[in-house]
Amino acid sequence: MEHLLDVQNLCVAFRGDDHRERTVVDHVSFQVNPGEILCIVGESGCGKSVTSLAIMNLLSRNGHITEGTVLFDGQDLTKLSAKELDKIRGSKMTMIFQDALTSLNPVFTVGKQVMESLRIHLGMAKDESVKRAVELLEKVGLPDPETMMRKYPHQLSGGQRQRVMIAIALSCNPKLLIADEPTTALDVTIQSQIMALTKNLIHELNMSMILITHDLGLVAEMADRVMVMYAGQIVETADVYTLFRSPAHPYTRALLGAVPSIYDEPDRQLVSIRGTVPENYEFLTGCRFADRCDSVCDNCREAAAGKTMYSAGENHSVRCILFSADNTRPNTSGHCTSCKEEVTSHD
Ligand SMILES: Nc1ncnc2c1ncn2[C@@H]1O[C@H](COP(=O)(O)OP(=O)(O)OP(=O)(O)O)[C@@H](O)[C@H]1O
Ligand SMILES: [Mg+2]
Repeated sequence: MEHLLDVQNLCVAFRGDDHRERTVVDHVSFQVNPGEILCIVGESGCGKSVTSLAIMNLLSRNGHITEGTVLFDGQDLTKLSAKELDKIRGSKMTMIFQDALTSLNPVFTVGKQVMESLRIHLGMAKDESVKRAVELLEKVGLPDPETMMRKYPHQLSGGQRQRVMIAIALSCNPKLLIADEPTTALDVTIQSQIMALTKNLIHELNMSMILITHDLGLVAEMADRVMVMYAGQIVETADVYTLFRSPAHPYTRALLGAVPSIYDEPDRQLVSIRGTVPENYEFLTGCRFADRCDSVCDNCREAAAGKTMYSAGENHSVRCILFSADNTRPNTSGHCTSCKEEVTSHD
């Protein structure tokens, strides 16, 4: 299948106040297929937002792509001019953010903002864009869309504003929607309504989606495939069922071990991950998760550790030396076969 988005070896660096470059996204490669929902998870500061901003070429001035390609619908976005990118952003590829109040312009009515996108990207005449804007507001479940057209963002609730953002994002029938924690600011009931609506619209319009979230419950509901990031790198990718049933990377296991489930036994203990994501992780030698990992062994601190993605099954890859060829089933055997050190079993 031809990928809609094919990101290869993407590296992003930011220049700090000391004028030194810091690589925060390190050789990230992944694909999104037509019609697919890919979820990106990982703790704060792992590079999820920077990856998505780099794809859309929306990095702040002190950040830039230092290596890699971003093939979208057959075009390498890293090679396009600002003008060419403008034609793609907002029409073929759109993004919604966490806080809809700051994403919407406070001095224009909702109607004007939805219509603007239609007029700029689809060249619609005014009358036609009014009609289409009303239809879109109705589609995202806003009551009385005609009245809604005349309202300003501050007159709407958080959930209503996020629905308006979705209407704008979907207005030009994009092929890819990137949503960065779109419902974190909303209460759980509204969150689940909005995500159910988004999923229906994604399928109805045959679009693809990258959803960035901390909420593993949402991942289970939304994702076809999941990509786990840690310290600027992808550490595991798998389809959603495999990831929840057989997580391979100790980091993914730890993330899942930290969330409750309604199927839990009453005495199940939630385990937090000790420590935090390291600062300046690009200077670490070996596996970047080693210091926090329960399965760590000497080999994890060797320079070669953490450099390779290994197969943990069909379409399931993991950045952990316990899955290298000579460590076939270390997590169940309880031993790292290359250094013979005992590792903690999670099974
Ligand atoms: N404009 C910037 N200038 C310098 N460093 C930045 C900038 N934006 C992000 N970073 C750094 O890049 C790294 C990755 O940040 P990013 O925002 O992608 O994390 P994230 O995974 O989206 O976290 P969160 O879950 O909190 O949103 C962090 O170490 C952050 O400090
Ligand atoms: Mg983020």
